[in-house]
Amino acid sequence: MKPRGDHIIKICLGTACYVKGIEEVLGKIKENLKVEVGDITEDKKFSLEAVRCLGACGLAPVMVVDHDTHGAVTSKKVLQILDEYKTVDKPH
Ligand code: FES
Repeated sequence: MKPRGDHIIKICLGTACYVKGIEEVLGKIKENLKVEVGDITEDKKFSLEAVRCLGACGLAPVMVVDHDTHGAVTSKKVLQILDEYKTVDKPH
């Protein structure tokens, strides 16, 4: 089994989120954390996973970090959100 980061980022690639621009958000994460989908960051803080519909399409585009659902995520907001997790240790 692959090791997992302290925090698990799940990016929704379902249709609703796709239409609302999740790709841009995903691109921002990859670029900034230097991580690919299915991988873990070098500092082991984050794992990045892609999923098909998180069941919260009304909030699209959606990202789930650990057990928190973040709706209406933009490429501008996403790094700010992730920053908050960097200072927090494993919740699981
Ligand atoms: S398509 Fe993203 S939550 Fe449904």
